[in-house]
Amino acid sequence: MSNATPSAPLYDGIGHGYASARRPDARIAARIDAALGDARTVLNVGAGAGSYEPAHRRVVAVEPSALMLSQRPGNAAPAIRGVAESLPFRDGSFDAVMASLTMHHWSNWRAGVREMQRVTRGRIVVFTFDPLRTREYWLVQEYLPAIADSPTEAFDLAEVAAAIGGRIEIVPVPVDCTDGFLAAYWRRPAMYLDPGRRGAVSAFHSVPPEQLHEGIARLETDIASGEWERRHGAGLPADDFDAGYRLIVRD
Ligand SMILES: C[S@@+](CC[C@H](N)C(=O)[O-])C[C@H]1O[C@@H](n2cnc3c(N)ncnc32)[C@H](O)[C@@H]1O
Repeated sequence: MSNATPSAPLYDGIGHGYASARRPDARIAARIDAALGDARTVLNVGAGAGSYEPAHRRVVAVEPSALMLSQRPGNAAPAIRGVAESLPFRDGSFDAVMASLTMHHWSNWRAGVREMQRVTRGRIVVFTFDPLRTREYWLVQEYLPAIADSPTEAFDLAEVAAAIGGRIEIVPVPVDCTDGFLAAYWRRPAMYLDPGRRGAVSAFHSVPPEQLHEGIARLETDIASGEWERRHGAGLPADDFDAGYRLIVRD
């Protein structure tokens, strides 16, 4: 996680088309909802276009990017502009705080964790990933190794969980996952050839353009020749795959 630039300008720049490429996956939504337990009021930090906000609870969203806020559906929870590191709420304002695929963008994740602990009356649910697993993902390892060096990969999942005081749960990625995050297409490699899908994933923006072009061109060749299928087809599971996505849950 970077300690340098705030990411709101990043998402004002790269957030175009996010809501269509990154549709929340119902199975992941169910995991997040279960982790929220009996919380009636929930703050969603780094809420973006509203993915994974449970419709049957009273949710308030915080999000720094105007472009992301503009993609929230008309019936989405009320949202305000703000950042995790300085949440504009009094202590203990919510039954639970959630954060989905956002913590790796915070300029200071420790400050964000302290703020979540301050404004929740108890529960914290963070959907994130383990950078140690990202670097083992076939796309990163074989085609785009620069992704592993991105500032958003520079955090220790166990350290984050310890700071939160939560347990770590594995969230397998379904083979037909609808949320097009980095490893969503683990069994559908041709999806990575689509610039629109890549555009909705910040990791691809961190790769120097010539390396991105070279890696994707090589992937395209390997798909067309059957080489990708030969190397990976038999080794991958049929239904879902542990690509390193994790829930950190503090009850
Ligand atoms: C990959 S998107 C995830 C959005 C949404 N939570 C989801 O699951 O689709 C990352 C979001 O984190 C937001 N973000 C970046 N820096 C932030 C910060 N310091 N505090 C809160 N949110 C931040 C971005 O603007 C962006 O909307």
